[in-house]
Amino acid sequence: MSAEPYLPKRKTLNTLNQAVQDCKGCSLWQHATQAVLGEGTTKAQLMFVGEQPGDQEDQQGRPFVGPAGRLLDKALEEAGIDRQAVYVTNAVKHFKFTPQGKRRIHKKPNAEEVRACHPWLEAEIAVVKPKIVAAMGATAAQALLGPKFKVTKDRGTFVGSDPMITATVHPSSILRAPDEDARHEQMTAFVDDLRLIAKRLAS
Ligand code: URA
Ligand code: SF4
Repeated sequence: MSAEPYLPKRKTLNTLNQAVQDCKGCSLWQHATQAVLGEGTTKAQLMFVGEQPGDQEDQQGRPFVGPAGRLLDKALEEAGIDRQAVYVTNAVKHFKFTPQGKRRIHKKPNAEEVRACHPWLEAEIAVVKPKIVAAMGATAAQALLGPKFKVTKDRGTFVGSDPMITATVHPSSILRAPDEDARHEQMTAFVDDLRLIAKRLAS
């Protein structure tokens, strides 16, 4: 199971975007509306990696346009990071879900699916060449930093160079906070992580 055979020889954001629509590197293409690659310019110095497209992303074909995306936008603004200067993508490019009546409930991609889809993320990193890649949540952290990296313990640390890799929480986890106080606290911590990233970018 791998996306590798579906990658174009000549890699640009355009050729990747076209080719990813035909990917059958794992079974997730079967029920999704379309593949969702990342979005942003090749000039971006900062790349954010989420888990997988959600319901709205699957329908619109763009990453982080639903509730989690709005929270990310707000946090970026609070941290003084220009969303236009950022490339956003996901560890897995097709939406995985279980139908529940008319709704589609997000289902976490498993390790094989994350591994199968990794060539797309690698290609995006190779084309965009960001200075920093920030994994958001456990799935992205696992894809980029391996299973030993624990977001709760290791968030805010930077690993390697070219690109430097760091991790923080997923914005959806903040949306799931049990009450307003917890939500506020988690948002503050998320924005603090983003500020650290902004500082590294500037250094
Ligand atoms: N959650 C993600 O991980 N990615 C998206 O694009 C949207 C929600
Ligand atoms: Fe290919 Fe990734 Fe979609 Fe699986 S999830 S079919 S590997 S693009």
